[in-house]
Amino acid sequence: MMPKTMDQEIEALRERALAAIAAAQDVKALEDARVKFLGKKGELTLLLRSMGELPPEERPVVGKMVNALRDELNEALEARRSELEEAAVAARLAAEAIDVTLPGKRLAKGGLHPLSQVLREIQEVFVGLGFEVVEGPEIETDYYNFEALNIPPHHPARDMQDTFYITEELLLRTQTSPVQIRVMESRKPPVRIIAPGKVYRVDAADATHSPMFHQVEGLLIDKNVTMGDLKGTLAEFAHALFGKDRGVRFRPSYFPFTEPSAEMDIECGICRGSGCRFCGGEGWLEILGAGMVHPNVLRAVHYDPEEVGGFAFGMGIERVALLKYGIDDIRLLFESDIRFLRQF
Ligand code: PHE
Repeated sequence: MMPKTMDQEIEALRERALAAIAAAQDVKALEDARVKFLGKKGELTLLLRSMGELPPEERPVVGKMVNALRDELNEALEARRSELEEAAVAARLAAEAIDVTLPGKRLAKGGLHPLSQVLREIQEVFVGLGFEVVEGPEIETDYYNFEALNIPPHHPARDMQDTFYITEELLLRTQTSPVQIRVMESRKPPVRIIAPGKVYRVDAADATHSPMFHQVEGLLIDKNVTMGDLKGTLAEFAHALFGKDRGVRFRPSYFPFTEPSAEMDIECGICRGSGCRFCGGEGWLEILGAGMVHPNVLRAVHYDPEEVGGFAFGMGIERVALLKYGIDDIRLLFESDIRFLRQF
């Protein structure tokens, strides 16, 4: 019989080893436990070596026990290892879990400035009527901005539009009408264009004025164009933008480059014609200037007034936006206050 102590020693080693394996909380700790008991200098290995001191007849019995214990420990190690690995995977899955039912993060989406929206609407209407969109320079010559438009030097109409001059000859255009001249110079009739863009006038900013604002010019030249065509086209435009139920009216007016000239009003959207604060008691709101192109303008671009003629119009985009959205101060359109802009 082997001495009791050897038996006990093996059992004690077994318990310590199994406890260490069970206690290992990660792969590293488990490996430490393996080395401590099964490594080259591990406890079980040392025990095996000490067998040399046993009487020969006991060695096979002890050897068997030690081998059985080694197998058991290896199995326990393997089981614990896969347990730990599964736990690690489970922990990672839990940490990376995505709750697909959570509401997404809302991305702040940009929007079009109300002026851009109004301009697009205006363009859509006129493109639908067969007009082409063209542009011209913001820095103009005196000739295109005034002279060719039948406004000679010292003409009182120059005072209607206080001008930013760059030199005697160069200026910031006060209106988009010079684009009429540029287009007619470069094309033969028929002509059907609109020309949107910035214009500049020496004005202090207040609720209704801004030194820079936007206009859309329109020009139609062909044979046999009448004032009826002008009225029909512009009424169609007003109804498309403001609604079919809004009344429109034309009043006689004056522009040097059109004859006859008119201004178009639309019925006030607030009081429907009876007069209120928004329309200054008028019941009507002015939205554009227009008229039949003056023969002098046609002659300036070498068109024959006996052969062709047409109509032109010009409107302020800011003004259209103010009327359409019921805004009472033009400066709001230029301040880029996101709280204001978000409403459109
Ligand atoms: N250019 C004029 C203005 O700025 C508007 C207009 C354009 C009038 C074309 C008649 C014809 O007030």
